[in-house]
Amino acid sequence: MADKLLEVKGVSKIFRVGGMLRGKKLVAVDNVSLSIDDDKPVILSIVGESGCGKSTLCKMILRLHNPDMGDIVLDGKSYADKKSYDPKQFKLDVQPIFQNPYESFSARKTVDTYLYNTALRLGIAKNRAEADKVVDEALKSVGMSLAVVKGKYATQFSGGELQRVSIARALITRPKLIIADEPVAAIDASMKMNIVNLFKELRDKYKISFIYITHDLSTAYYVSDYIATLYRGCLIEYGPAKQIMDNPAHPYTELLMSSVPRVGDKWEKEIAMPDMEGKEYAVEYCKFAPRCPYATDECRQKRPDATDMGNGRMVLCCHPLCQQTKEA
Ligand SMILES: Nc1ncnc2c1ncn2[C@@H]1O[C@H](COP(=O)(O)OP(=O)(O)O)[C@@H](O)[C@H]1O
Ligand SMILES: [Mg+2]
Repeated sequence: MADKLLEVKGVSKIFRVGGMLRGKKLVAVDNVSLSIDDDKPVILSIVGESGCGKSTLCKMILRLHNPDMGDIVLDGKSYADKKSYDPKQFKLDVQPIFQNPYESFSARKTVDTYLYNTALRLGIAKNRAEADKVVDEALKSVGMSLAVVKGKYATQFSGGELQRVSIARALITRPKLIIADEPVAAIDASMKMNIVNLFKELRDKYKISFIYITHDLSTAYYVSDYIATLYRGCLIEYGPAKQIMDNPAHPYTELLMSSVPRVGDKWEKEIAMPDMEGKEYAVEYCKFAPRCPYATDECRQKRPDATDMGNGRMVLCCHPLCQQTKEA
């Protein structure tokens, strides 16, 4: 048994934007490494502004994009080793949940069809009677039931209810890892906490790890065991959530912390995105230096190395704030 459930090892994704000839390379994910232990299920939140590479990273973990550099290892199996890839096993182990549940379910099929299909096609249930049981159980784990859901179409549910149905569908395969990309972004503010609380419950009850991708920092800080902050494709800070919240090491994390709004509010509007996106993605030195209040000449000369802060923490900064605090 591998001691890591997931290892993301120096992964990069480069897109060519604006045509083949005059186009530019956009490093959407830039040398990102992180991991999830096998023995203790966790909720790892990946946070950052819109466009920082969260979805691209999650698509690579879901095998929807191939990394251009680096490798991903799930349960000891490398994605680079195509021969050992078993698509069915992968679907059982890793389940996605997407932002807009109304897009996950067609308006023409009743939603229970999707749950039955997952149960029957992936061999969780051998026949309809078994599937009834599996589907009902999964729905009950999210506070619903087959009796309530059966025969209904997506539009007959609220966004929050329908997102719970998509979580139930994901649970049917008894996955080890659920990757939820902005699962509460399209959901009514009053239901957001309901969904993230459900992640906590399912982590404890079924020992499922979650990668929770969000730009809603307040829910991320509330629900996470670990937080990974992305900035322009780079993982700039990573570690146990509480330590990061109490004592951010990266100036960008500090900036985010100072602008955390109430649950449900979006913070993307409060931090202005300068109109230098392309340029900033391409800088050879620290990508945050142009916006950093503490930047020195050193920061404008070289890319910072990942600094191991101990206690499972990592920061990508020439002058980490915690260290500075200690020295002061
Ligand atoms: N298929 C693609 N082709 C070209 N550029 C892309 C593609 N997907 C994403 N990008 C770009 O990569 C960057 C990161 O995008 P994305 O991962 O969707 O960010 P996030 O999910 O954090 O909002 C953005 O600048 C986006 O425009
Ligand atoms: Mg996204």
